[in-house]
Amino acid sequence: MPKKLDLTDNLENYIINHSENLTDVQKDIVNYNISLGNQQRLQISISQAQFLQTLIKVSGVKKILEIGSFTGFSALSMALVLPPDGTLTSLDKNSEFSNKAKSFYEKANEKKIKQIIKPALESLNELKNSKQIFDLVFIDADKENYLNYYEICIDLIDKGGLIIIDNVLWHGEVADKSKNDKFTNIIRDFNKYIKQDNRITKNIIPIGDGLTICIKKT
Ligand SMILES: C[S@@+](CC[C@H](N)C(=O)[O-])C[C@H]1O[C@@H](n2cnc3c(N)ncnc32)[C@H](O)[C@@H]1O
Repeated sequence: MPKKLDLTDNLENYIINHSENLTDVQKDIVNYNISLGNQQRLQISISQAQFLQTLIKVSGVKKILEIGSFTGFSALSMALVLPPDGTLTSLDKNSEFSNKAKSFYEKANEKKIKQIIKPALESLNELKNSKQIFDLVFIDADKENYLNYYEICIDLIDKGGLIIIDNVLWHGEVADKSKNDKFTNIIRDFNKYIKQDNRITKNIIPIGDGLTICIKKT
């Protein structure tokens, strides 16, 4: 078996510290989330944010849709690397989180982000009915709806468009046969569905809690 890394917390910090620096407002969001205690785990990891930024820059993405914004760390991270005419539409049903996120976008003077505050399925159906097309969709909301989100989002991107899904390794539990709780099985079933979906190519990247990158083929 080829050599592979054991990604310890120490090594994760080393990677973060030797990759692109966070801006002051990105750091403010991370620190605010830490102050929330247990809820900080909702945020994507810093290494995931750095990876998404790189991906956006190399792929020339201009129009992003995010499902699940929490206090805005992933949205701001992605918006910061969009070109000036880029846009990011961010969906979340929680107005308290969304207002906090808005305050960070304003502090960063980041005007490319548009927030829609209501259940994401409603927003997605409206975006589909109005024939909106995005270059990249980032799915990071309630796991029970992952498949519903994915199926609508396939129609919101063109050939070559990206769908990126977070938490697909579910703390490593997806590969542990002894784990059979509701959420592990939801993610397992979702991963199985993606694997057999011939409309896209797929690649699971083991950063943070696991990201699947899907590219639409047709
Ligand atoms: C994991 S957090 C998103 C984290 C964010 N991407 C970040 O990096 O900070 C999930 C978010 O999805 C939102 N959410 C959960 N169910 C939802 C639904 N049905 N419609 C819209 N938003 C939902 C929650 O309010 C929460 O803010």
